[in-house]
This record gives sequence, C-alpha cells and structure tokens, in this order.
Amino acid sequence: MSRPLTATVDLEAILSNYRYAKKLHPKCHAFAVVKSDAYGHGAVRVAQYLADEADAFAVATIEEALELRAAQIKKPIMLLEGVFEPSEWEICAEQGFWAAIENTMQLESLLALGKSIEKVFVKLDSGMHRLGVTQEIAPEFVESLRDSGLVGEVLLMTHFACADDLSDMTTMEQLAYFEQTRQLIGDIQASVANSAAIMKWNIPEGGWIRPGIMLYGISPFAEVSGVELGLKPAMTLSSKVISVRHIKAGDQVGYGLSYQAPEDHQLVTIAAGYGDGYPRSADHGTPLLINGNAAELAGRVSMDMITAKLAGSDCTNLAIGDEVVLWGNGVPVEHVAHCSKTIGYELVTRMTSRPIRIYRTKD
Ligand SMILES: Cc1ncc(COP(=O)(O)O)c(C=O)c1O
Repeated sequence: MSRPLTATVDLEAILSNYRYAKKLHPKCHAFAVVKSDAYGHGAVRVAQYLADEADAFAVATIEEALELRAAQIKKPIMLLEGVFEPSEWEICAEQGFWAAIENTMQLESLLALGKSIEKVFVKLDSGMHRLGVTQEIAPEFVESLRDSGLVGEVLLMTHFACADDLSDMTTMEQLAYFEQTRQLIGDIQASVANSAAIMKWNIPEGGWIRPGIMLYGISPFAEVSGVELGLKPAMTLSSKVISVRHIKAGDQVGYGLSYQAPEDHQLVTIAAGYGDGYPRSADHGTPLLINGNAAELAGRVSMDMITAKLAGSDCTNLAIGDEVVLWGNGVPVEHVAHCSKTIGYELVTRMTSRPIRIYRTKD
C-alpha cells in the first residue's frame, strides 16, 4: 500500500442501524435509502449486504436503480423523485421499479404508456415546497392512478422540511396537513419519515419509513451525535502521519500561513486533503485522533495534506507512520462537520474515489 488514506466501511454497522430503525416502528416497512452511492459508502456493497433483510431500497435516479439491478439486487427499488422523463417509465415497468409521482408530466406519461407499476407514491407537498402536489390535487392523482388499473398500490408520501429541529413545530403542521389529506382520500398507506422523524417524531403507524443518514450511523440532529443516539458509525476515515517537525511559538503554517503557533510544539503532516473529500473549510481546532490521542487541525487544509498538533500538552513524541483517525471511530463525523460549517451528510457523500476503500463484515 502506498498512500495510507483509507475509508473503512462497516457493513454490519449499517445492517444494525437498519434493524434499529425497524425496531422503532415494527409495524412499518422500511426502505434503505442508498441514493448518492449510499451517502458515499458504496451503494452496491451496502445493498448487497442488506439485501436479505431490507424490505426495499430507495434511490434518486434511474441510473442508481439500474446499477443495483445490475449487481443482482432483486428487492424493490423506489425512485424517490420519480422519473425525470417519460421514457423512464418503460424501464421502471421492465425492472419492477417503484416511483414517486409529484407532477402532471409523471402522471400523464405513466397513464399514456399503459404499463404496470407495482407501487406508486403520490407525493404531497405538505409545506416544504420543493416537490409534490397540494391537498386539492393529491386525491385526483390517487383516483386516476387507481382507476387506470395500472398500479398495484397507490400510497401517499411527503417529506419534512425541519424534522431535524425538535423545537420547530413545522413537522407537526406538515403531519396534520398530511393526515387531513389522507382523510380526504380515504384508505391509503403513508410514507412520511426520514431518519429524524423515525427517531424523534410521532409518525403514522404502518406504511413505509425511509431511513437514510441513520443507516450510516450519523445523526440528523445538530446537537447530538449518532453514537449518542445509539447508532453505529459506519465509516472511519483514517490515515497516517507522513512528516513531523518542531515549530516555535509564532511560526506560521500552511497556505496563507493562517495558523500561528501559540507556543513551541510538534507539528505533523497527514495524508488527507480536500482532494479526498476532507473539507477545505475545516477550521483550526477541528478534532482528530493521532495514535488514539486527541489532536486538532493546525493550518489550512490542502488538496492532499493537512497539518495537525496534539490537543493537550505536547508531551507525546509523534513519528512518521503514526495512526490518524479523521472521522468515524472515536471522532464523530458530526463534530468535524460542525467545525467545517456543514453537516455529516455532506462530508460522507462528497468523498472522492481517492481514499482506499475497505469493507468490514461480521467477523
Ligand atoms: C424523499 C426522501 N426520503 C428520505 C430521505 C432520507 O433522509 P435522511 O437521510 O435524513 O434519513 C431523503 C433524503 O434526502 C429523501 O429525499
């Protein structure tokens, strides 16, 4: 092995987090949301590992769905945003994909094609105003799909705008609007919950939940980490020290010389940078571990390297080859995200292909 930067993905942790979501809502079926390459964890590997237990998978594009089918994933796969052009319906029918319908183009093109789709989720815009139809239109969509005889089951779905903020009552308002719409329609199964709602909000019994970020052991909430929620972090990004030096109080470090040593200390250079997906916006003080000791970024993140120092008193002698954890095991990715003014979702999803990938299964 040459450059030591490694993303180790614990597939058993993802399975355990999926089971945890299902345990919270035993009457619900659950999609495993594996869009965007399973939030950077590798959609094919994740789906193959979950294939025996997951009720179904959910993705954002037909290409993502086809990639899973090509990897012999036989379970249902749902297109969360539906089709982007009418010709995709033909593929959905052939491949047995399920889909959301949120606009007239999607509805009319399915009806015009005249082929069967096993499940369609009519998407209600309950307040996020990103996708979906209003309460006035949703019952008509449901009726025309049911009347067409083309769809095995029509369900009603929605998505929450603020479920990650427990003090924000928007989720209650969205739920009330959703339930009102359900009553207008009559008997219809629901799908409303992302990870935050699965873990903390009172959601309808039955139907389908849609856990995404929690599968990867990451918290959707700003104030609490995945570990604190009882989740198992799935990705550990680790590397090694590749250079060591002693700097004096007042010495400046890295591009822009933006870090200035407050005292004499050891400074190490580590193989990881924004070319790997480590956030360039990570500030001085962003946590990491070196040989299990608390350490922090000292200097601006470069494309291939970062510089760091031990967090406390600088008594340990660091050396080339020392083990570094950038996030995951012992360093919550949520903390790194916070120091980079972003969210854990973004850090794992935007990893590049450069780190070596290792997959762990049950020993
Ligand atoms: C429609 C829909 N459902 C479920 C999810 C999963 O959300 P989370 O990762 O917060 O669990 C997403 C993610 O963006 C989504 O767009």
